[in-house]
Amino acid sequence: MKIIGTGSALPKKVVTNDMLKEFFDTSDEWIRTRTGIETRRIMTDECLLDLATTACKRAIEAAGICPEELDYIVCSNVSNNYVYPTLSSMVQGAIGATCPCIDLRNACAGYVYALDVADMYLQTRRANKILVLAAEEPTRFCHWEQRETSVLFGDGAGAVVVEKGDGFLGSKMTTVSNTEVLYQRKRLESTPFEVEGTYIDHIMVMNGREVFRMAVSGCSSEISHLLQDHNLKTSDIKYFILHQANMRIISGIQQHLDAKTEQCPTTVQKYGNTSSASMVILFDELVRANKIQRGDLLVFSGFGAGFTTGSCIVRY
Ligand code: ACO
Repeated sequence: MKIIGTGSALPKKVVTNDMLKEFFDTSDEWIRTRTGIETRRIMTDECLLDLATTACKRAIEAAGICPEELDYIVCSNVSNNYVYPTLSSMVQGAIGATCPCIDLRNACAGYVYALDVADMYLQTRRANKILVLAAEEPTRFCHWEQRETSVLFGDGAGAVVVEKGDGFLGSKMTTVSNTEVLYQRKRLESTPFEVEGTYIDHIMVMNGREVFRMAVSGCSSEISHLLQDHNLKTSDIKYFILHQANMRIISGIQQHLDAKTEQCPTTVQKYGNTSSASMVILFDELVRANKIQRGDLLVFSGFGAGFTTGSCIVRY
């Protein structure tokens, strides 16, 4: 696999920490010190399909291809008001592609899983060009009276176009079944057969401290094993592009890897946690700022509900 184009899109509305004081008891100081987040982007009159479509069009333009040349769209998406159809099916029509589409629901680690699936399609010769998209609206999944989670998230989308090449050095995926630490149930209709008292709530449930601990230990160990397997040192990696959930989690992983701060770039301070879109939005920003050159080694690593982690090494 080789990455030949990147793109991203964010809502226009910038929401500062101080603006959140209108909805619940919080402070800029609490949010900054606990998470590093200063602002986030939240959708107002846009919809997720608009962001996803813009990100994809930008990636396709950067790749210099036509939408008809795509053989697959692989999309990571969990927060979306459609149960079906898949977001990738909607994007396919919006960008004028004709290929088959698949969505993966692997929460915040989903982008790495989507890259891994795309690499397998390429390796098994079932595709030559694939659009890999991650788009999320986690702010619409927050219960806006719950300050513990509402301060953390932002909306956004990012995409890459990949084709056959030797830029995907390897990946390592881990799922440790733990459905208590982070989950959210969908609201479903009642049936006349439902037994009274079986109502379930649908708000996001997160044990923040446990997520923190599992994220730092899971990603650090996965990346260390991956580097070891490929005979690479931390210093060989230009950037560790980590899931942008919390500045302290990023620092924790950085310390475990003994990486320099400049090897772990961040956008979490300006965009908050955009779930599976966060890594690809950051990646697109680095590419467009000419901070990544062809041949640079990159590590992507994400964590999320499951509890799931996923990491891969890419030569750009
Ligand atoms: N503003 C002000 N006070 C708050 C807020 C808020 N927004 N939220 C919670 N508090 C209060 C709590 O009620 C608590 O008060 P108490 O001591 O009177 O009970 C106090 O702040 C401390 O709360 P803690 O939970 O102990 O705070 P902690 O230092 O653990 O930080 C946080 C919480 C930021 C959630 C941290 O645990 C964390 O970052 N965890 C990682 C979770 C994460 O990043 N999830 C991302 C979503 S999942 C994903 O992307 C995979």
